[in-house]
Amino acid sequence: MYPQTQTASAGTAGRQLLKTAAILLLWVAILLLALWFIQRDALRYFSMDETIFGRFWAHRLWLVTHIVGGLLALLMGPFQFWSGLRRRALSFHRWTGRLYLAGVVLAAVPTFHLVFYIPPSDGGWVAGSSLVTLALVWLASSAMALRSILNGQVEIHKEWMIRSYVLAFSFVNFRWWMDWPVFANAGTFAERLTAVVWLGWTVPLFLTEVILQWRRTGRMA
Ligand code: HEM
Repeated sequence: MYPQTQTASAGTAGRQLLKTAAILLLWVAILLLALWFIQRDALRYFSMDETIFGRFWAHRLWLVTHIVGGLLALLMGPFQFWSGLRRRALSFHRWTGRLYLAGVVLAAVPTFHLVFYIPPSDGGWVAGSSLVTLALVWLASSAMALRSILNGQVEIHKEWMIRSYVLAFSFVNFRWWMDWPVFANAGTFAERLTAVVWLGWTVPLFLTEVILQWRRTGRMA
């Protein structure tokens, strides 16, 4: 091999290593955030304690179904993106994919009931309208992921799964965005919550779209 070709291939290998390390770091951050949210906000509902459910006590079955679905989606999602595992164990990928989709349905459907019980002090109908839209967009993105893989369109399937998981992550975003200084000190609690509940899924979804289209136009060029 010529020295110039050697340098070029060392550069490509270096860039590849950097990309792998960045992706790994991103996944570690995603998993840590998800586990933080699950441990702090989700698991306590399994105690079936009335004081923890508060206003949702009369609707506890809806909420518990929602949380079981949300947990399934949050925890099965990362397996869908692990390409090494997908190559080595396709049937595992398919089963975790089915569990992920079941989780989306179990989490999204109770939303249409739960939103009616959000009081104005927690954002009321304005926050509720965001959550209903989020549930619909989440169901639609997951359905598109399923449809594309049934049609054998692997690349399109991957893109819809990315959108779907970004949306699954919205509830985790709501929690940690509320602690950001820009939100933590702005307006009333209801105003802050409403802003976060709208921005916490629309902004990540838009950024995801920019990245997906950037990659697509890059490939086309
Ligand atoms: C992404 C679509 C989702 C939508 C539209 C949605 C919607 C809702 C709604 C309407 C409520 C009741 C009202 C409220 O407390 O604000 C709620 C509560 C809750 N959801 Fe979700 N949710 C989603 C995803 C998730 C996920 C993935 C989890 C993960 C486990 C989750 C966990 C919870 C928990 C623990 C509560 C209890 C109340 C609280 O701590 O705020 N949700 N969700």
